[in-house]
Amino acid sequence: MNVLKRLLPASFKQWLKLRIEHVSLFWAGLLARSAFSASLFYWFSPAFRREQHSVLAGRLAYQQQLHQLGKSSALLRRNIHRLEKGLIMQPRRASFASDYIMETVVIFERAVQQKSICSAELKWAADVLNRYFEVVTDTAEIAKARSLFGQVWQQLSRELTEQVGDATQTGSSSVPYPASALPDCPIVFADLYTLYQRRRSVRWFTQQQVDPTLIRQAVNAASLAPSACNRQPYRFDLLSRPEDAAKVADLAMGTTGFAGQIPSLIAVIGDLSCYPAERDRHVIYIDASLATMQLMLALETLGLSTCPINWPDIESREKAIAQTLGLEPYQRVVMLLAIGYADPQGGVPFSQKKTDALLVREVKL
Ligand SMILES: Cc1cc2nc3c(=O)[nH]c(=O)nc-3n(C[C@H](O)[C@H](O)[C@H](O)COP(=O)(O)O)c2cc1C
Repeated sequence: MNVLKRLLPASFKQWLKLRIEHVSLFWAGLLARSAFSASLFYWFSPAFRREQHSVLAGRLAYQQQLHQLGKSSALLRRNIHRLEKGLIMQPRRASFASDYIMETVVIFERAVQQKSICSAELKWAADVLNRYFEVVTDTAEIAKARSLFGQVWQQLSRELTEQVGDATQTGSSSVPYPASALPDCPIVFADLYTLYQRRRSVRWFTQQQVDPTLIRQAVNAASLAPSACNRQPYRFDLLSRPEDAAKVADLAMGTTGFAGQIPSLIAVIGDLSCYPAERDRHVIYIDASLATMQLMLALETLGLSTCPINWPDIESREKAIAQTLGLEPYQRVVMLLAIGYADPQGGVPFSQKKTDALLVREVKL
């Protein structure tokens, strides 16, 4: 197929492309009228196949991971966060979370038994559950969950005591706190605006290597970004050797001409195994992008420049990057991010920005 593609004259390829687009638009004109007919259109098209495969594989992996936990559990994170929100509710209900507290304690028990969950996540869960059972009034379900939690907490506090001497001395409690306890904000709008102006997509870098510890520092700032139900369904695959960065950058479409001189690269990977249902399939893109924006700004303050790189859903490229990075079917590339020290002589496109006149639509109902 590729040989044929290379042999065909460019004018013929262009003509063929236009014909295919023409036929496709003809059918789109007939079938774009309703969701059902649109699904018929895509029945014959492979355009969404990879996504469907990923979402379905994600649903399955979600169920499997309920039994075999990794370093983090999407269900534990989501349910603990739901409890946090119940705890800060105004007015707080005497009994809440009856419908999911048993599920939460069961997954917490599994986390304690399997010992794979990272300690900060486990501590957060333990602290919130302890606070919850301190304040909540029992229903039949809550009473059962309280009893199980009592046993699990006994085991966990015994283990903690063995490790740190006193289970109550494991740092400040990871429970809700009043807004007045938030740190003061020393940054004024003008400073933030300058940082935003300073962050531009930089494509030309010096060959100075980037210290991975700087990137890790920025990642820890990026991870403070909001995420739906606090699941944080993403990770940053870091390629800090220029030859590796170039190899992955080359797999994207938008890096022609500058892929070969990118010192470091991050592949932002969304994890669809964090969701039991299709309805949340877009959240990986939202959460990962919010964090990546914070990452770019954090890197900027450390003297590093970045360029986000589009990741197109093209089967051959998807296969290549999945193989290169060892991705599971439910792990999707959200975008790539080139990172390096800006070449002072390298150009930066003006890239005019839309302003409030175009971006804001005031709505009064
Ligand atoms: C999701 C995303 C994908 C992008 N993909 C590419 C790309 O493939 N190649 C490239 O040179 N720039 C890419 N960019 C950079 C944009 O061209 C750039 O953000 C835009 O022109 C605005 O310029 P600025 O980032 O300097 O403000 C991408 C940006 C985003 C947010």
